[in-house]
Amino acid sequence: MPFTAADCERCRRDFPSLARTLDGRPLAFLDGPAGTQVPNAVIDAIAGYYRASNANTHGYFPTTRETDRLLQETREVTAAFLGAADWRSVSFGQNMTTLTWSLSYALAREMVPGDEIVITQLEHEANRGPWLNLQAERGIVVREAAIGPDGRLDADDLARQISERTRLVAFSMASNSLGTVSDAALARRLSKEAGAWLLLDAVHYAAHFPIDVTALDADFLLCSAYKFYGPHVGILYSRPGLLDRLRTDRLRTQDEEAPYRIEMGTLNHAALVGMKAAVEYIASWGTGASLRARIASAMEEISAYEHDLGAYYFENVRGIPGVAVHGPDFSGPRAPTVSITVEGVAPAEVARALSEKGLNVWAGHFYGLRPLEILGLMENGGVVRAGIVMYNTREEVDRLLEGVAELRKPSLPQPPLSRPLPSPLTGREGALKAE
Ligand SMILES: Cc1ncc(COP(=O)(O)O)c(C=O)c1O
Repeated sequence: MPFTAADCERCRRDFPSLARTLDGRPLAFLDGPAGTQVPNAVIDAIAGYYRASNANTHGYFPTTRETDRLLQETREVTAAFLGAADWRSVSFGQNMTTLTWSLSYALAREMVPGDEIVITQLEHEANRGPWLNLQAERGIVVREAAIGPDGRLDADDLARQISERTRLVAFSMASNSLGTVSDAALARRLSKEAGAWLLLDAVHYAAHFPIDVTALDADFLLCSAYKFYGPHVGILYSRPGLLDRLRTDRLRTQDEEAPYRIEMGTLNHAALVGMKAAVEYIASWGTGASLRARIASAMEEISAYEHDLGAYYFENVRGIPGVAVHGPDFSGPRAPTVSITVEGVAPAEVARALSEKGLNVWAGHFYGLRPLEILGLMENGGVVRAGIVMYNTREEVDRLLEGVAELRKPSLPQPPLSRPLPSPLTGREGALKAE
């Protein structure tokens, strides 16, 4: 059953923050790519945990046993969300970045200087920094597959970069700054031919499409629950048996088996319980006999709704004089995340002016800096990004279109373009807030 505009209106009642207003107008949360709002089910699960079950793990009394049970259930529900056959494949951490960094040290112990890691020009810094660090510290070579002017990955260049020296392909499934969806099946085929591991950054993708790690045949996949209606928790999937073979950094008191092997210190139990509720909330919009079927069908239908609304924004915003849209069009698979620039108005000023109309959008690079550098968009401060998720409406998009069109009216002061330039490699200098 399709997810309709009426379903969207219905789901909005589940998200209390959507009732917020600014000067009498509802706040339009078009900032989903930096983190979505959370439904009551998640808030209640977190509060419920603190009210009744808050304890550390592996003890003898009721609250600790409840905590063990809830965390175990969370692993099983997350495995269903990812399409993983075994909950032992699911590790948790603070966020994707810290999990990737920990994993990078473990993988480096299996590599020698001169081994290669292939990434793409679409990567978020979280899927660049850990590998560039190995290049700087351990002589591992990082190669980067190119993108074209429309922000699509150059498949031929990906094939050229991967060779028998490649040990790891670390690959963005969807770009958080351009919305590009890349061909993970191609990355799998090429990495397999080279005998390399495939790590998928699914942080942006998982918010908009069903994930099936088994079909993707991924060695590792990472995502973050705060992008799909949950709390700030990172998730690492690893192929059954693979994490057990890696030398992770761990304390001698830490459980040495997967999935615990890479989990440092005490986890955020309440947030994990909230994440379980977020996945169950998504599943409540789907159909099917199993939890997995309900999650996958809900994600399919929500994805189609988001795609249509994203395409509507894309087609209309690019018709506004002085607006340039960056990233691929909506003719194929694409995340409903659209970045624009407005001639003569700095991105930060655009976001500020829109925020005065109750429109929450991000400006800058969102750590998805590399593609914006490559496309020459950082010289004027990056882009203005709006993202569509399940609770966004056509009316909100119309308000955004109106807000963008107003920016170019001569009565508005046109602020000067001035941004500090980030450094090409790390982008740390001049980095803007937001992920
Ligand atoms: C594509 C992508 N990868 C990685 C990350 C980093 O995720 P986290 O904030 O969980 O570290 C983000 C965050 O925005 C992202 O969009």
